[in-house]
Amino acid sequence: MKGKILIVMVVAIALLCAGVALAGISATKHNLSSTGPGTVKASAGQQNDEICVYCHTPHFANTGFTGAPLWNKATPAGSYTMYGTTIAGTTPDATPNGITKACLSCHDGVSAINSIVNEAGSGKSGPANVAFGTTAAGTAFTMPAGATNLGTSLADDHPVSITYTAGKASLNPTTTTLTGWTGASTIADLLRNGKVECSSCHDPHTSATSLFLRVSNSGSALCLGCHGK
Ligand code: HEC
Ligand code: HEC
Ligand code: HEC
Ligand code: HEC
Repeated sequence: MKGKILIVMVVAIALLCAGVALAGISATKHNLSSTGPGTVKASAGQQNDEICVYCHTPHFANTGFTGAPLWNKATPAGSYTMYGTTIAGTTPDATPNGITKACLSCHDGVSAINSIVNEAGSGKSGPANVAFGTTAAGTAFTMPAGATNLGTSLADDHPVSITYTAGKASLNPTTTTLTGWTGASTIADLLRNGKVECSSCHDPHTSATSLFLRVSNSGSALCLGCHGK
């Protein structure tokens, strides 16, 4: 009897661990389906019970977001203020690159989170704003005020769409090994076309750390990965 209970417990613990390991994006606030764990999401009963569809589509993708694969959202209409010329001297690009614009297409506070080019299921009806939360189809649902709404000024954010030059701002060589980071084993893996973008520091799918960070910033490990301070 005791042996049986032990076996059941071992199996239960193994299943629990597997569940944690496999959790991935479904356990994060980027699961915008009606069963997602966040508060910003589709309401129950809608056809949009998919996860990837709010960012990716297998067909009819918006190719205007260079670097953001199979992007399923409309291009943001407005413009952005970039970080000023840095002390280290490198000027960011005049406008955010596609991969950073992909994040801003939900996080700038003016672009519609519920904008979709190719809706779930059969038929392409977008780009259109789908029904979302308590917002009806056709109406834009934008990021609520708060820390996740970065606004359209990136002047107060770590520079993005900026070339990584080893030596400037004590930046480590791009060949530097990174241990325990999601999706990167060297600094080169963090760069997009040689530049720092939002996805250099964040992996929008990971549940391994809080705030989608590629490595926990405990002890400022994220910052120290690039800056040899
Ligand atoms: C909130 C937006 C968002 C959602 C939801 C999302 N992705 Fe992504 N995905 C991105 C972004 C942004 C990138 C580019 C990341 C980068 O530059 O590292 C990406 C990249 C990818 C890539 C290519 C790079 C890689 O890591 O392999 C794949 C494959 C991918 N996503 C699959 C998925 C799948 C499958 C789902 C649903 C289970 C999903 N994504 C949901 C935003 C999202
Ligand atoms: C389809 C819309 C969408 C896209 C695209 C998107 N996000 Fe988000 N993100 C959200 C929503 C919704 C939340 C939850 C907001 C809230 O509850 O305040 C969120 C939350 C976050 C959070 C906070 C997570 C937490 O647990 O508190 C971070 C960090 C984040 N996103 C980073 C990014 C980055 C970086 C990108 C691009 C690589 C990105 N997001 C792309 C919709 C999006
Ligand atoms: C140099 C690394 C780095 C870059 C680049 C970066 N972030 Fe972050 N981000 C962080 C860290 C570290 C945190 C957590 C600490 C904090 O909030 O300051 C964070 C937090 C966030 C949060 C959550 C804020 C909160 O308090 O809930 C959001 C949303 C976010 N980032 C989105 C973005 C977007 C969008 C971009 C690109 C425009 C971006 N990040 C670029 C490092 C970065
Ligand atoms: C992916 C690599 C990377 C990571 C991670 C990173 N940085 Fe940076 N950081 C850069 C680059 C590239 C620059 C631009 C340097 C230049 O001007 O040539 C920069 C610039 C800076 C600057 C100088 C801004 C100025 O006006 O000159 C500060 C301060 C800074 N980073 C702080 C941080 C902090 C704090 C963190 C952690 C939250 C962090 N960085 C994480 C790559 C990174």
